Amino acid sequence: MAPGRGRPFPGRVSHLPPAGITALAPGYPTSIMKWGKRDDMLVHEEEPFNAEPPTGALAGRFLTPLDAFYSRNHGPVPRIDAAAWRLEVDGLVERRLRLSLEELRSRFPEREVVATLQCAGNRRAELIEVRDIPGEDPWRSGAVSTARWTGVSLADVLAGAGLRPGAAHVSFTAPDVAREADPPQPYGGSIPAAKAVAGEVLLAWAMNGHPLPAVHGAPLRVVVPGWIGARSVKWLERVTARADPSGNYFQAVAYRMSPPGADPSRSGPGTGIPLGPVALTCDILSPEDGSRVPPGPTEITGYAFAGGGHGVARVDVSSDAGRTWSQAELDAPAHPWAWRLWRAVVVLSEGEADVLARAWDTAGATHPETPAALWNPKGYGNTSWGRLHLTCRR
Ligand code: MTE
Repeated sequence: MAPGRGRPFPGRVSHLPPAGITALAPGYPTSIMKWGKRDDMLVHEEEPFNAEPPTGALAGRFLTPLDAFYSRNHGPVPRIDAAAWRLEVDGLVERRLRLSLEELRSRFPEREVVATLQCAGNRRAELIEVRDIPGEDPWRSGAVSTARWTGVSLADVLAGAGLRPGAAHVSFTAPDVAREADPPQPYGGSIPAAKAVAGEVLLAWAMNGHPLPAVHGAPLRVVVPGWIGARSVKWLERVTARADPSGNYFQAVAYRMSPPGADPSRSGPGTGIPLGPVALTCDILSPEDGSRVPPGPTEITGYAFAGGGHGVARVDVSSDAGRTWSQAELDAPAHPWAWRLWRAVVVLSEGEADVLARAWDTAGATHPETPAALWNPKGYGNTSWGRLHLTCRR
């Protein structure tokens, strides 16, 4: 039988109910499967669990509280026996490693990185308004969150194993089986060795000072700062140094930018642009889209994020659909791999208002105006200007 069809893969992995719930009585509402998240999360799917917070829960908070941090899962959350768990490091290395969590913690220095995680499917709903994207969840603006991650640097672990000549990529393997993968297979992915040894990539066991919750990858996950969330592999079991990128479905087939006319269900491995560094983006977090506000001064808040080597330099806001712009107040760049929060006060008169926000990066570049300019068949990478429609009435 193929892994994932009818039995968990591998043997010691099974579905895990949320903390405190040991068994679900037949007929018990599955809506309690919230994994410790806020009640007002927008749950796209309960199994596998896929949920995002309302943007108001992200607004104005540099670190995202754990109960509001979005969660994106392609398969069931695996139940992992932490005592039996080991991390394997193999492939093009001088010395293979097999480490328990305690061995990992005692052998390598502890590191902290504040990093924003953004799903490649964030804001897909706006792309779907342009043209339908069948079979993909309509994520709104909440599949982005920021945490202070604690762990060890992947660079230190790879130095401990000793990379051999020819090691150009580093792949990550997890035990959760995604049935959407063809054939069904455990989740995985890879990053170039140059990024893997850059220092900022963590193997993390804590998030905002708390042990990593099961839904976010306990006991150990990868955090690849500045790259799409898909490369931050959860429930990490194996790190492999290799000559080529991973052949895993989620590296070779999915998370690739295909041309608008392509049929992604028929595209073979290796077609499309593999997604890695996050492109410059900016979005509005409060007020919520479609809100009613009184005429007069209104505070607009949001974030800007530049993942791929450039920083955010400026954010502009317009309350007249782009005819005039003013500069937002931007928080200091405290952490190179995290979003920058901003705020602006716009004065609105009675009626309807379209508020826009766009960012500029340190190379003097900005991002596309509309989702139509970015539409692609899997609905990835919507980094168009932030947009908000408000009704101004007393
Ligand atoms: N790792 C495993 N093992 N399985 C997954 O389904 N999803 C990826 C990534 N790592 C995934 C995974 C995707 S697409 C994203 S966006 C992030 O995890 C989401 O991380 P979070 O659930 O902690 O927010």
